[in-house]
Amino acid sequence: MRVVVIGGTGQIGTFLVPRLVKSGHAVLNVSRQRRQPYVPDRAWERVEQITIDRAESEAAGEFGDQVRQLDPDVVIDLTCYTLESARQLVEGVRSRVRHFLHCGTIWVHGPAIETPLTEETERTPIDEYGKRKAAIEDYLLTEARERGFPATILHPGHLVGPGWIPINPAANFNLQVFAKLARGAEVLLPNLGRETLHHVHADDVAQAFELSVARPATAIGESFHVVSPAALTLWGFAAVSASWFGRDARVRFLPWEEWRRSVPEKDAQVTWGHIFRSPNCSIEKAKARLGYRPRYRSAEAVREALFRLIEDGSLQV
Ligand SMILES: NC(=O)c1ccc[n+]([C@@H]2O[C@H](COP(=O)([O-])OP(=O)(O)OC[C@H]3O[C@@H](n4cnc5c(N)ncnc54)[C@H](OP(=O)(O)O)[C@@H]3O)[C@@H](O)[C@H]2O)c1
Repeated sequence: MRVVVIGGTGQIGTFLVPRLVKSGHAVLNVSRQRRQPYVPDRAWERVEQITIDRAESEAAGEFGDQVRQLDPDVVIDLTCYTLESARQLVEGVRSRVRHFLHCGTIWVHGPAIETPLTEETERTPIDEYGKRKAAIEDYLLTEARERGFPATILHPGHLVGPGWIPINPAANFNLQVFAKLARGAEVLLPNLGRETLHHVHADDVAQAFELSVARPATAIGESFHVVSPAALTLWGFAAVSASWFGRDARVRFLPWEEWRRSVPEKDAQVTWGHIFRSPNCSIEKAKARLGYRPRYRSAEAVREALFRLIEDGSLQV
């Protein structure tokens, strides 16, 4: 099939585009052509590159038409953040496309009452990003139900992969947390370190997109969580991270207000965004209906990303 991937050179597309090429699809990547994929792959030589700035094209009201003119059987939208943006694309490709896949996020969920969260859990997003993604999901599922629009939504967790910094055991992106654990230095964690993170390797997200494309009859009209097999507690994540360097984690717990004063405000805000939600999502639906089998547990994905950062000199331990 002819598959148009919008934003195919990012974290997910780095793995998804080569997978689609190797499955025999004709793949077109729509982007500004400013960046290269995180991991080189000869499959990219067979990808048609389409240069469009989505923001500019949308402002001119042209993006949906431009994508339709690419004549796609399948559209995979990795860069959609507003309802208006989703609508414009859907209206443009409605008459043409056989399957339309949107990349959502587990941030459509707020804090859980019951865990693990399922796709049926009522959406309670707590920030603008999550609210906008939930509105897009609701719109696409309504379009599927009422007008037969062939939409599927995949909700990844915290993306992990080689080339970018994974979220750390203090639930932020400060690489020094990993460095301290590697050296056997003390690490401060908020509360009792029992709050959770739910990572996913970008290649596992790519796997779920590929499976959805291969199974339109089961995927259309549905949302799926795409995360690792299990969430990590902050404390457990710290312990596992230290063990990669032959250390026992030296962790001291502080009440939230005290902890937040011990780190830069930017880190505290990121941590709060993660631990307030403490995601823990079920993948049973994706396993049962799509055959999703994540290759990476959370810690394995982070370990791979971390050692890549050490190898390329981004992190000294
Ligand atoms: N990061 C996470 O932990 C996380 C978690 C859950 C869900 N998600 C979802 O994942 C999706 C993002 O995927 P990703 O992380 O793979 O993307 P990414 O790494 O941010 O890459 C963005 C892609 O979009 C292209 N792009 C950016 N601005 C563009 C524009 N104005 N016009 C055309 N192309 C543009 C980029 O190429 P150029 O720069 O060359 O244009 C690149 O191909 C989003 O839907 C997000 O909500 C992310």
